[in-house]
Amino acid sequence: MGFDPKAIRKDFPILNRKIRGKALVYLDNAATSQKPSSVIDLEKSFYETNNANIHRGVHLLSQESTEMMDLSREKVAKFIGAASAHEIVFTRNATEALNLVAHSWGRKFLKEGDEIVLTEMEHHSNLVPWQLAAKAKGATLKFIPVTPEGTIELEAARGLIGPKTKLVAFTAMSNALGTINPVPELLAMAKKHGATTLVDASQWTPHLKTDVAAWDCDFLVFSSHKMLGPTGIGVLWGKRKLLESMDPFMGGGDMIQEVWLDRSTWNEVPYKFEAGTPNIAGAIAFGAAVDYLNKLGMEAVRRHELELTEAALRVVEAEGQIALYGPRDPQHRGGVISFNVADIHPHDVGQVFDSEGIAIRAGHHCCQPLMRKLKIGGTARASFYVYNTLEDVSAFGRGLRKVKDFFKVPAEAKHG
Ligand SMILES: Cc1ncc(COP(=O)(O)O)c(C=O)c1O
Repeated sequence: MGFDPKAIRKDFPILNRKIRGKALVYLDNAATSQKPSSVIDLEKSFYETNNANIHRGVHLLSQESTEMMDLSREKVAKFIGAASAHEIVFTRNATEALNLVAHSWGRKFLKEGDEIVLTEMEHHSNLVPWQLAAKAKGATLKFIPVTPEGTIELEAARGLIGPKTKLVAFTAMSNALGTINPVPELLAMAKKHGATTLVDASQWTPHLKTDVAAWDCDFLVFSSHKMLGPTGIGVLWGKRKLLESMDPFMGGGDMIQEVWLDRSTWNEVPYKFEAGTPNIAGAIAFGAAVDYLNKLGMEAVRRHELELTEAALRVVEAEGQIALYGPRDPQHRGGVISFNVADIHPHDVGQVFDSEGIAIRAGHHCCQPLMRKLKIGGTARASFYVYNTLEDVSAFGRGLRKVKDFFKVPAEAKHG
């Protein structure tokens, strides 16, 4: 059973917008997704009818706010196959979740000589926090190489992950290329050597079914805003015992059990990691986004994106002078088309698309080391989600032709 993307478009008010006089074609979903009315309405109605601070009040509004946030936490836990809502730490975004682990786990458990294994395709958010932690603790970073096709070298990974490896942290799907990584294989290699594992699921959880129990990883991070939910809310999932063994990230309200002038004890997880008033409205509205995705069904979401990706790859193939990055096989990529048109700067490509009302992204996609490895300054990137249609793929093709016309790129010679 699938869903009709044309029918669900009416749930997304922003898709009615005209951009430069043309109907908006939104193809920047890997950066952030649009929000359905159910998410927008819940956030609004929360402020209009329930708003109060959580945990601290005996009054009805505070109880309602607390219950609504708890419910959302449970929905998120179920959505990713977590054993308990206590394993869901709400953060501001995936970046904060990664910094939390690098700080609270890294500063406590890493020691001199330990090795942290990442891949060359990590988003800066899953790289820079480890650079900081490694420097603080005298650990070393190692990188699983990326092939020219934009996949990771599994054989090299086998050589890199060994007895000194303390952590293996990698993205399940590349935001820059769309590559779907061999998650179970990498996790198996890490576990063979007793390493702790972290999956950056920022680009996975919005698009493919997530099951942390099946993966049996130790940590998983993602952001609400890429999966129909509000900005300012993200998730760290961790195995409960591991979360309990870690030190707090930030100190302040709610994360304590008892405070004296010279010392404090900590609240139970996940609250130990949620210092201060959280994004209550955002967390609650995130629950509505999870409901929406559950209604569509994640298998159907993947099938829909596969259809769009296959169509977009055919468009790229049919055009000359387009360099395509990432695996050719759509089974090994998400709904991300990363490309360059001849030698035209990606920003110029993005601007021509914008003049047609088509929103794509251009640049290094927070993956500068990967761009360096591929010997490019950046790419233009079109990325799909549930409300995109085959008409949007045709618009993508129109955009490509407009770029080629505008910059007078010859049609014949093909490369990429
Ligand atoms: C793979 C990956 N990891 C981490 C992040 C960081 O997400 P956020 O900016 O929501 O913290 C992103 C965002 O683009 C991403 O694509």
